[in-house]
Amino acid sequence: MEPIPQNGHKGLIYLNNAATSWPKPPGVIAEVKKSLQNPYFEQGRTTAGGAIDYPVAARTALAGFFCAEKPDHIIFTQNATDSLNLLIHGFTRNAPAPFHTITTELEHNSVLRPLHALEMDGAITLTTVPCTDNRVSLTTIKEALRADTRLVVMTHGSNVLGSVQDIKSIAEYLRANDIFFIVDGAQTAGHIPIDLSHMPVDAFIFTGHKALFGIPGIGGFYLSDPAAIAITKQGGTGSDSASLRHPRDMPTRFEAGTHNYPGIASLYAGVRFIEGISLAAIERKGRELTASFIRALKKTDTIHIYNESPDLPIVSFNIDGLDNHETGFILARAYQVITRTGLHCAPLVHQRIDGGNGCVRASLSWFTTPDECQVAAEAIREVAKECA
Ligand SMILES: Cc1ncc(COP(=O)(O)O)c(C=O)c1O
Repeated sequence: MEPIPQNGHKGLIYLNNAATSWPKPPGVIAEVKKSLQNPYFEQGRTTAGGAIDYPVAARTALAGFFCAEKPDHIIFTQNATDSLNLLIHGFTRNAPAPFHTITTELEHNSVLRPLHALEMDGAITLTTVPCTDNRVSLTTIKEALRADTRLVVMTHGSNVLGSVQDIKSIAEYLRANDIFFIVDGAQTAGHIPIDLSHMPVDAFIFTGHKALFGIPGIGGFYLSDPAAIAITKQGGTGSDSASLRHPRDMPTRFEAGTHNYPGIASLYAGVRFIEGISLAAIERKGRELTASFIRALKKTDTIHIYNESPDLPIVSFNIDGLDNHETGFILARAYQVITRTGLHCAPLVHQRIDGGNGCVRASLSWFTTPDECQVAAEAIREVAKECA
């Protein structure tokens, strides 16, 4: 599909924030610009002073934001996918193979594909547990446990159903049973409070370009025990350079090469933006707008909604008798309403909810207005009526 004419974005209703948030806050754009207008500055790598050391500033901001004890245990990567690959492969390399791993049918391919590759290589055996009422419970995880289960990888928030999992109780149980727990927070970070001081996960993943309002190409994770993950990337760190052995200390242990400086600057500004508004206000607005959007869609009974009470501002639906791609195309072309269609890189959840055919997803952000929601809902209802 060709890009739709932008007309300076006039009239465009962007409901694809679960993929990548837009617009970005002016402060984020300004910080990226500032990071490029000044010389790159990072302790140990450059001698220039004066500008902000964005990696240090962003690590401190993110540690505060996630209530994480040690800022140096925040590692920057390209995105959630890069984080998941680094952690899943790094853990597997350190653990006795083959060991049993549990994941869920809510997962994104950034979890499913690395695990599938390891299963095919014979490094792990894998159980994929189902969800009930759009969620995966501790009971379901417990039922799948085996004596050789070493790893559980699961999403905090589903990118299709907008459901938040009870990570705290699962984390407490797995910690007590010495099972490593990797949580994919790509959809929750920036939408709901995340308190790692009360949620004992081993690794928590975030991405910059969604609800944290950063630019694409930056993400990361928090890791409590660095020794659990094998080092799979080596290179320059600006430290201990006479040694051919990659440094073991955090954060350089997992960060080789030059940082994505503008990306890290955007993440720093994104977190500050959220804190300026308050996460509570963001969460409240998201819930209210999403509920009113769902109420409006429910007035037309040929619109089938898969998640009538989401925790996150994500609404997934299909119009009876109309292919989801066609619906998305009509909404974009005729109404300038931008949604996302298809499988949303989460194939297993679609087998459960829509026969594996995919659906239309409308996802909101702090910048979505009540008016936009009503106009978009009217547009969807009009399309549905024309197809009836
Ligand atoms: C739940 C979930 N995990 C992981 C990802 C991958 O994120 P990224 O594109 O930043 O790697 C996404 C992106 O859509 C997602 O929704």
